Amino acid sequence: MAIKWEKIYDFNLHGNEPQQIHSVRTIEVNEKRICLARLPEGYFAIDDRCPHAGARLGMGKCDNHGNVICPVHRYRYDVKTGKGLQGDFVNTYPTETRKDGVYIGFKKNWWWPF
Ligand code: FES
Repeated sequence: MAIKWEKIYDFNLHGNEPQQIHSVRTIEVNEKRICLARLPEGYFAIDDRCPHAGARLGMGKCDNHGNVICPVHRYRYDVKTGKGLQGDFVNTYPTETRKDGVYIGFKKNWWWPF
């Protein structure tokens, strides 16, 4: 399945360090809210909506093990796999850091061909 890449950070515009390591934030791409985490090994993207009760994961924190901590009831989700420590999941999205910036990938499918 093809992937459409969207630039989320432009290094010319945002600088080479647009987000601190071990931080999370909510970004909006293609009318979708994404929780973007930065770890020492790179950027990771998961759905922003917590599957427990809908809180915004990007408003939470990142622990030293690469988990985002939900700001409401403190459930934890691995930002690399989307797996919750409680056994549930959030969707993950591929990211790439290129020379000019950071990109997030969305799978193209028949109902969203562009
Ligand atoms: S809303 Fe996220 S843990 Fe409850």
